[in-house]
Amino acid sequence: MDNVAHTLENLHTETRSFRPLASFAAHANATAYEYKKAGVDRLEYWREAAQRLAWKTPFTEILDWSDAPVARWFHDGTLNACDNAVDRHIREGRGDRVAFHFVGEPGDTQTLTYADIHERVQKAANGLASLGVGKGDRVAIYLPQIPEAVVAMLACARVGAIHSVVFGGFSADSLRQRIDDAEAKLVITADGGNRRGSHLALKPLVDDALAGHPEQGPAASVEHVLVVRRTGQDTAWTEGRDLWWHDVVDPQPAEHEPVWVEAEHPLFILYTSGTTGTPKGLWHSTGGYLTGAAQSHRLVFDLKPETDVYWCTADVGWITGHSYIVYGPMINGATQVLYEGTPNTPHEGRWWEIVEEYKVTILYTAPTAIRTFMKWGKAIPQQYDLSSLRLLGSVGEPINPEAWMWYRRVIGGDRCPIVDTWWQTETGSIMISPLPGVTATKPGSAMTPMPGVSIDVVDDAGRPVANGEGGYLVITEPWPSMLRGIWGNRHRYVSTYWNHFDGLYFAGDGAKKDVDGDLWLLGRVDDVMNVSGHRLTTTEIEHSLVSHPWVAEAAVVGASDEVTGQAVVAFVIVRSDAHGVPSEGSEVAAALREHVRRQIGALAKPRTILVVSEVPKTRSGKIMRRLLRDVAENRATGDVTTLADPTVMDAIRGGLEAGRAD
Ligand code: WTA
Repeated sequence: MDNVAHTLENLHTETRSFRPLASFAAHANATAYEYKKAGVDRLEYWREAAQRLAWKTPFTEILDWSDAPVARWFHDGTLNACDNAVDRHIREGRGDRVAFHFVGEPGDTQTLTYADIHERVQKAANGLASLGVGKGDRVAIYLPQIPEAVVAMLACARVGAIHSVVFGGFSADSLRQRIDDAEAKLVITADGGNRRGSHLALKPLVDDALAGHPEQGPAASVEHVLVVRRTGQDTAWTEGRDLWWHDVVDPQPAEHEPVWVEAEHPLFILYTSGTTGTPKGLWHSTGGYLTGAAQSHRLVFDLKPETDVYWCTADVGWITGHSYIVYGPMINGATQVLYEGTPNTPHEGRWWEIVEEYKVTILYTAPTAIRTFMKWGKAIPQQYDLSSLRLLGSVGEPINPEAWMWYRRVIGGDRCPIVDTWWQTETGSIMISPLPGVTATKPGSAMTPMPGVSIDVVDDAGRPVANGEGGYLVITEPWPSMLRGIWGNRHRYVSTYWNHFDGLYFAGDGAKKDVDGDLWLLGRVDDVMNVSGHRLTTTEIEHSLVSHPWVAEAAVVGASDEVTGQAVVAFVIVRSDAHGVPSEGSEVAAALREHVRRQIGALAKPRTILVVSEVPKTRSGKIMRRLLRDVAENRATGDVTTLADPTVMDAIRGGLEAGRAD
């Protein structure tokens, strides 16, 4: 509870509240009836939500919880995710609607209608089938944010294959680990992507991943690598294994009958940081997952598919991209912006220029982006016409009241409802959020559980806390889009999520109920860090650091950071017997940061590395991260009485001036 206690102290009492505008409420998709319906009969509420999907065979049973905590929802029905996201719109006469306004970083654009996507996914599905990829096979997707990423995911779903998208910022080692764990048969990648005006190579990382580590052997499961030509850069080629996407996919016929799968058939695996260090392959079902994604998207974003232009700025490599770019919005027939680039290329007004040009009405982004824009100043967004915006969303980490108010005023012109949405890779879809047009909002609070979702805040013994108190966030009833497990490891699934409190799903977050019972998220209470909305664990970075020959011991903490929410701060003890260690702390730090980048990816690079002579430990040898966070956040050191050696903290602070290397 270290983090919770600390954040609770700092959480000032927020009293502002914004009631929905009557003009918005009059046309809102959500009504208070939603809560009422779900309150009266939760399962019936979910049955109705699931029936909005297109089923090949209708389901008769809603929930089978007999094998708890592994749920089966709508299990005797059959359907196909791609059919729901694409074909259905063609059948119902919406083929001409724009699905994506793609905005590439160098300025290239593509407009893709649902009919265009339909053609592309059928060709791609035939292409996958021609490579022998079929139902239940795993396909790793390692692509930039380009239309082929969406098409590849949907084509996998179409043939019943299970996609495992790996964010393009991960290293070759991280990619190999994920390919190995899922035993992927195919890897879909690109020659490269565009980043801040230059070409970033991707294919060489796949080559490295497949060449493998001398001790661990190559990713033996992979038969082919399918390569999208994006940048046109030179690419090494392994004959027989590597194939161009355009050679395989383009000549295929544009007719493909979807493979109908049971509702519980796995749709995808997505790896996320686990507390023990190795990433966990969380897997989601088809029917339940799609029900959660589509229903929440319709209610939380108030989507009016004929008139809205929706832009979720996440990468498709994260769960937000899966649920709120690919599956939820496409099932709902949304017109979206898909942007390959960064917020400040070629200038710091790029996002607002896109909002103006495409008349974006709904924007969904992360607090770290909002805080960055705050730093750049309101004069930049004010140069653009943002009057098309009518709803703003936030996700990924707690949003501080200042950022919330800035978002509301400067971006939303005081007229757009803000939906602060709490959820996780594990939950598949939004679990806590205001419903626009219904819920009065408070800056910094995610407010109330979604209809049909049962949430509580409990104390150490698992008892619900009273209003005004804080504790652990739990989900008390199964929900359709809940993860079905950790790939190949039921035991780890049960022990990670269900063993803390009997019969309750423990999310890993601390939360507070305010006097009205509204929810305030307080950040993680385990060793998961949230850096710019990306999940990392202290252990995975510590493992990486100690694998460097200079490092004897490492302790990593997430220190609060004005822009990124948290930042990685590492304390390292250098081996006395190591050769060639630079005498300058800054050189040691630079080498270690590069080491972590190579092993995990740029997103995990420590912001600060401090070379110290010792780290604080309890008598039982456990590192006391709380004290290191005090140092990293420049606070007076807290209670040291449980330390094996109470003088350690003085030694660390005393040695800092010399060793500090940001
Ligand atoms: C955090 C991202 C506060 C939380 C969708 C959670 C949030 C973790 C919010 C999941 C929010 C996400 N307010 N914290 N609105 N949204 N989080 O799996 O700590 O990448 O456990 O899913 O992000 O991160 P993940």
